[in-house]
Amino acid sequence: MLQNDIFLKVLKGESVERPPVWLMRQAGRILPQYRAVRESLSGFVELVKSPDLVAEVTVQPVDELGVDAAILFSDILVIPEAMGLPYELIEKKGPFFPKTIHQSADIANLISGEEAAAKLDYVYDGIDATVAKLESRVPLIGFAGAPFTLLCYMVEGKGSKTFSQAKKFLYAQPEDAHLLLQKLTDTIIVYLKTKVAHGVNAVQVFDSWAGSLDKKTYNEFCIPYLKQINDAILPLVPVILFSKGAWFSLAELDQIGSTALGIDWNMDPQFVRNITGPDKVLQGNLDPCVLYGDADFIRAEAIDMMKAFGKNHIVNLGHGVYPDTPLDGVKAFVDTVKAFRY
Ligand code: CP3
Repeated sequence: MLQNDIFLKVLKGESVERPPVWLMRQAGRILPQYRAVRESLSGFVELVKSPDLVAEVTVQPVDELGVDAAILFSDILVIPEAMGLPYELIEKKGPFFPKTIHQSADIANLISGEEAAAKLDYVYDGIDATVAKLESRVPLIGFAGAPFTLLCYMVEGKGSKTFSQAKKFLYAQPEDAHLLLQKLTDTIIVYLKTKVAHGVNAVQVFDSWAGSLDKKTYNEFCIPYLKQINDAILPLVPVILFSKGAWFSLAELDQIGSTALGIDWNMDPQFVRNITGPDKVLQGNLDPCVLYGDADFIRAEAIDMMKAFGKNHIVNLGHGVYPDTPLDGVKAFVDTVKAFRY
């Protein structure tokens, strides 16, 4: 039995006295404890592949901030690597893939499904170590990148403001794109099922670059794959779909039938509620920059947001917390939610 199951209660549609709270990217550079672990190693990828350290940095925000859920420390880029495209993380620049995808032969060379998911034992070992270290205090969230967001990195080889190369790939080589998206989907499904078997209590799918597309393209290249993932995992644990910037496809995302939808700060809670109705669990959506403000400002903004969403809400930011956010701002946010009552 979990000591604090308020996060899972909301996902089950049970009534609670306040919304649960966690932050995307809570296991990361906002915490001095994380930076200390990170500096002791040669690089980010080494940390991701060290199960005991993964457990340590996953539990840090539970100890330091008192959040209602832990999210496994890892990265969405472990899937492309398992399929055959290794990545590096270049300091102050971000992810970099020496090899990228251009043509059908590149896609044919990728391994997928069971074979690829079997290369991720270090993630499953990290879950085992984390479950032991959490001692049933809070639930553990597992995650994967959505097929389109992973395609972005596999085609571009790095981050981008426009993802124009990835979009060109969808428009100019739609058959190749669908082939790659299906291979990614097959891998993600086995990967998430294995995470569940190792003890994650819920999963979140990050479609971080959804907002670079339009409705027609999103509905053709993204929604069907998210639906496959949702339908495979939903019988096992709650599923949260976070398609950042995809306000144009909210109705289609809602129709997938996931347990919850993640919402970014460009989407007004009332706008979203008008589409999903009051019963859908929504997660989000404070602008991460609010946490640069003073405690009174943060408190007022957080309370406004909780009132705007109403019940069936999990408090989070609208995207990951920025690494230079003052820890006091993060604490003011979490403490405000924990003191709030409906
Ligand atoms: O949320 C958590 O606390 C769990 C850990 C987590 C990380 N990455 C750790 C990380 C999660 C859920 C992710 C997912 C991820 N990774 C996404 C989707 C979420 C989102 O923010 O949209 C994306 C797009 C990636 C790809 C990625 N990994 C980028 C763009 C970067 C560089 C970003 C940066 O801020 O420098 C990473 C590296 C990364 N992943 C870091 C962390 C803590 C920073 C690395 C460091 O320690 O130097």
